[in-house]
Amino acid sequence: MQEPPFIVGRPVTGEYFVNREEELRRLLALVGGVKKGASSNSALIGLRRTGKTSVLENLVVRLEPESAIVPIIVNCYGIAAKSRFAKLLVDKAIESYIRKTGDNAYLKRLVKAAGETARAALERISEAKFADFSLKLRDKNTEEDSLIEEAMHYVESLANEKNVFLVIMLDEFQDVIRWGDDTLKRIRAVVQSQKRVCYVLAGSATTVMRSLVYDRRSPFYRQLVEIPIKKLNKATVSTFLKKRFSTARMRCQDSQIEKISTYSDGYPDYAQRLGLELYLAVGPGGGVTEEQVDKAYEDMILGLDGEFENYFGTFSPLEREILAALAMGKIQPSEVAREVRKPIFNISKTLTTLMNYGIIERPMKGQYRITDPVFADWLNRRFKSVAET
Ligand SMILES: Nc1ncnc2c1ncn2[C@@H]1O[C@H](COP(=O)(O)OP(=O)(O)OP(=O)(O)O)[C@@H](O)[C@H]1O
Ligand SMILES: [Mg+2]
Repeated sequence: MQEPPFIVGRPVTGEYFVNREEELRRLLALVGGVKKGASSNSALIGLRRTGKTSVLENLVVRLEPESAIVPIIVNCYGIAAKSRFAKLLVDKAIESYIRKTGDNAYLKRLVKAAGETARAALERISEAKFADFSLKLRDKNTEEDSLIEEAMHYVESLANEKNVFLVIMLDEFQDVIRWGDDTLKRIRAVVQSQKRVCYVLAGSATTVMRSLVYDRRSPFYRQLVEIPIKKLNKATVSTFLKKRFSTARMRCQDSQIEKISTYSDGYPDYAQRLGLELYLAVGPGGGVTEEQVDKAYEDMILGLDGEFENYFGTFSPLEREILAALAMGKIQPSEVAREVRKPIFNISKTLTTLMNYGIIERPMKGQYRITDPVFADWLNRRFKSVAET
């Protein structure tokens, strides 16, 4: 059976992954220094759905030949408690280390170490640190920030003891930034002290992430190298679509390719979704018509309904009203304010917040729009009112 030429809903590698060579080359160069204590920490910054997590997963693949480097991806999305983050970091480190080295016996020793009451009996430092961590985790009085520090110390002890180097990729890092500067400062202090560990912080709240790198007041000021993940250019998307269609022997005229690329607007996510819809509609060996492209777009929006609904629900009432107004084509703050029936002062403040999180952008001074055109279209369809047509 022929496998589908497109993948939706999860990060992609191999033939399903296009471009990002320059970004990966730079990341590899920054990370590669870790073996000589000469690595730099980096910040991977890009809008939602542009392919950050895929870049991280491809970095893992590229690091496969490096037997002494253990890459670890931690998804920080929606983690409310610092203790949860600390546990996740430790678990992912152990899991990634064992997967890379095949040292299965280590896990058994850790489980034993956690149950050991006489800590002194543990000869190996990482096991002792792990036991400490488990103990502190169970103690209700342990301060949450210090749990993060403990987790990071354990991870470093693992690297030292096993003579490996760790690349810790904290995905959706904006959710860690929310904990505030005090927490970030403590994380920074440990990061700086670590010789065998380097970090890639990835996030989609573009302005928030950039402030982390460039704002003088940021605890990470001048400590991170930015690697922007931009939308793909149209030619790249077109070439990718053609290649993928051809693996399924599908015929698609240039004008249709052009149309799909335009609908995708440089988001690899939408290119994959439209491609998959078309593949499901016409099947291997079939031909793509203009009507089918339009229908694929409609079906894609329908298919994203639940996801957009959830996402939209994460905003405050005022933010939702503003997004609806922007989707209706109100672009200036004064127009938005009129539509939302609120003083312009409140509107401007919220517009700035939305910009900081990369949800809206300002193509020109005094003009705003929603960055994701498919989300904007979904909102427009949802809130279009008969009274205003
Ligand atoms: N380089 C690429 N080539 C082809 N498709 C890609 C590429 N990067 C991402 N995609 C597609 O886009 C989708 C989203 O990618 P990914 O999850 O990596 O993005 P993200 O920026 O991490 O998104 P989010 O901000 O939602 O976490 C993937 O499921 C995949 O279909
Ligand atoms: Mg992601």
